[in-house]
Amino acid sequence: MADQDPNGKLWGGRFTESTDAFVEAFTASVDFDRRLYRYDIDGSIAHASMLAKIGVLSETERDAIVDGLQRIRGEIEAGDFEWSVAREDVHMNIEARLTALIGDAGKKLHTGRSRNDQVATDMRLYLRDEIDASVAELERLQRGLVDLAEREADTIMPGFTHLQVAMPVTFGHHLLAWFEMLERDRQRLKDCRRRMNVMPLGAAALAGTTYPIDRAYTAELLGFEAPAENSLDAVSDRDFAIEFTAAAALLMTHLSRCSEELILWTSAQFDFIDLPDRFCTGSSIMPQKKNPDVPELVRGKTGRVNGHLIGLLTLMKGQPLAYNKDNQEDKEPLFDTVDTLKGCLRVFADMVPAIEPKRDNMRRAARAGFSTATDLADYLVRKGVPFRDAHEIVGKAVRLGIDSGRDLAELELAALQALSPVIGEDVFEVLTLEGSVAARDHLGGTAPSQVRAAAQRARARLEI
Ligand code: ARG
Repeated sequence: MADQDPNGKLWGGRFTESTDAFVEAFTASVDFDRRLYRYDIDGSIAHASMLAKIGVLSETERDAIVDGLQRIRGEIEAGDFEWSVAREDVHMNIEARLTALIGDAGKKLHTGRSRNDQVATDMRLYLRDEIDASVAELERLQRGLVDLAEREADTIMPGFTHLQVAMPVTFGHHLLAWFEMLERDRQRLKDCRRRMNVMPLGAAALAGTTYPIDRAYTAELLGFEAPAENSLDAVSDRDFAIEFTAAAALLMTHLSRCSEELILWTSAQFDFIDLPDRFCTGSSIMPQKKNPDVPELVRGKTGRVNGHLIGLLTLMKGQPLAYNKDNQEDKEPLFDTVDTLKGCLRVFADMVPAIEPKRDNMRRAARAGFSTATDLADYLVRKGVPFRDAHEIVGKAVRLGIDSGRDLAELELAALQALSPVIGEDVFEVLTLEGSVAARDHLGGTAPSQVRAAAQRARARLEI
């Protein structure tokens, strides 16, 4: 192409010396922003189509631009495109190549546009696609959870508070708690996508442009909900990237909590589940080891996403309106957040259906910690004992159990009656694990019938 100055820059007209070699490398973003090429090309095709519609480009020029851009897309995808750091970023690499391919028409593409509205548009188009991809993986994971929960609706495990056995719950109920956490994350992602889906193009550098542009037309071509209302805001804010990263950080935090439980459950001390070998690795020194690497890595990767959130917030906080080069720094943390999230969702969605519960061990653990003590207190309350007194009586029963090494259900009726005369033979029904979970039979409770109903509702919620 005919360069504007000996330095070979698209913006070189007013410059009298070449860019310092290190500064060129320091300011360039092409090594990482080239991943936006598809969106850059889509945005340019829409922009050129709009320019032709309003008569700024001829139809011949538009066709040449569209053909050229499509050819460039082919070159990039075939690995034949020569990326150049001297061309600084994805936008100028593609524009320079376009002009090399089609001549003067290529130089007209940037009419009524700036890299500032261009990059803000590319980023939104990119993130919109990536949100859709993440939501699809998340839904696959959620469906896996619901299926497993339904299968394990009757499986009894200890529920914990303070990581001490508290009350029996069903494994299905526990898994549906995970589902709820993730469902809020799904809604957050969809919400973020909706707010993000407005188009910066037309804002140009910062103030708009003197051409009679048709922004509604460009927005429609690109699938945006509307053109952005304010040009200064449109080119400068990266809150959409921050909002996505915040949603991703929360989602990762939830995956991390699930991971922590999987890690505990696979330990010899809990021994509640098995993870198939394909999700684990061994130790190079201890032959007996089978380590839960996948959940451990997910737990670990949460740290980098949380870090990216802080990075992006800090990147934005001191910026005056409108565009500042600082914003070039939004890309690597955002891209890494997207990659990390997608990888973790994928591996989790693959792993969850493969979880093998060890039902007998879960049941044994649920019996071990006097987990039906509250059921005994509730039983006494039903017989007219005030709750505080019932609490005291059951505490004594637990003491008896500890001293004699027995569970509440194993104590003799006479021993229980010595603590409270209202206790009858029917007490043993409430002291069983099955009786305990079945009694929590209301919306949100752990009873197997409730878990089955909740699983069905969860499936329906995933359709919206
Ligand atoms: N590479 C730049 C970025 O990522 C593109 C916009 C550059 N705009 C400018 N006025 N220097 O933000």
